[in-house]
Amino acid sequence: MAFELKNTVPWGRTLEEYKNIFNLSETDLEKKIISFGDGPASFNSEMTMLGKSVTSIDPIYQFSKHDLENHIDKTRLIVMKQTRENKDAFIWTSIANVDELEKIRMNAMKSFIEDFEKGVNQKRYITHELPDQLDFEEQSFELGLSSHFLILYSELGIDFHIKSISEMLRLCKEVRIFPLLNLNAKISEVLEGIIDYFSNEYEVQIETVGYEFQKGGDKMMRITKK
Ligand SMILES: C[S@@+](CC[C@H](N)C(=O)[O-])C[C@H]1O[C@@H](n2cnc3c(N)ncnc32)[C@H](O)[C@@H]1O
Repeated sequence: MAFELKNTVPWGRTLEEYKNIFNLSETDLEKKIISFGDGPASFNSEMTMLGKSVTSIDPIYQFSKHDLENHIDKTRLIVMKQTRENKDAFIWTSIANVDELEKIRMNAMKSFIEDFEKGVNQKRYITHELPDQLDFEEQSFELGLSSHFLILYSELGIDFHIKSISEMLRLCKEVRIFPLLNLNAKISEVLEGIIDYFSNEYEVQIETVGYEFQKGGDKMMRITKK
């Protein structure tokens, strides 16, 4: 099935959020990083401005800047309405309220949009859909990230997750995934299957991080070679 922009919800987080989500240290920030399902986050644009190395992959990068901008604009009201209706499902401490959330997200996506065409030319934004194999050599990256994509979208199924994480581990020395909940803020249905599958060959660790927006969603998975 062709990937359609209208089926996606463009929602991008910031470098500050990624730092907390993934417990990123100053040493981590110096690593060669690839971020899967990076969407309209400002992680890549902000890191590039600091002289760091991030490659983002996502199927939405096949669309034009104009189409992405329009789509972000159209879905903003829908997403904000849904967030207001479900605001009790979230923790409002580091982000004080729904208006502040909207401001943070829109600023992040503006930073992404402004950087997008330059980033495509520099091959920092690569159109790609997991679990397909990417055109990089084994272990090309020190760190692979997935924020609010794998494990969260549990309906993609365990096979999709095993194939996608296997591809991430082919490319990266270490993989971090956040959150471990599904879209209903319950423990993701694919979590146990992922731990079971990768634990033979890899160290699979669950760590508490300094970020909790979905209630109970303050855990990250770290996978490294044994
Ligand atoms: C909720 S967004 C998260 C964006 C960003 N990582 C963040 O945390 O702000 C989920 C992203 O996953 C992307 N996605 C969906 N299916 C994908 C696939 N098969 N491979 C890679 N990315 C995918 C979507 O296009 C979307 O941009």
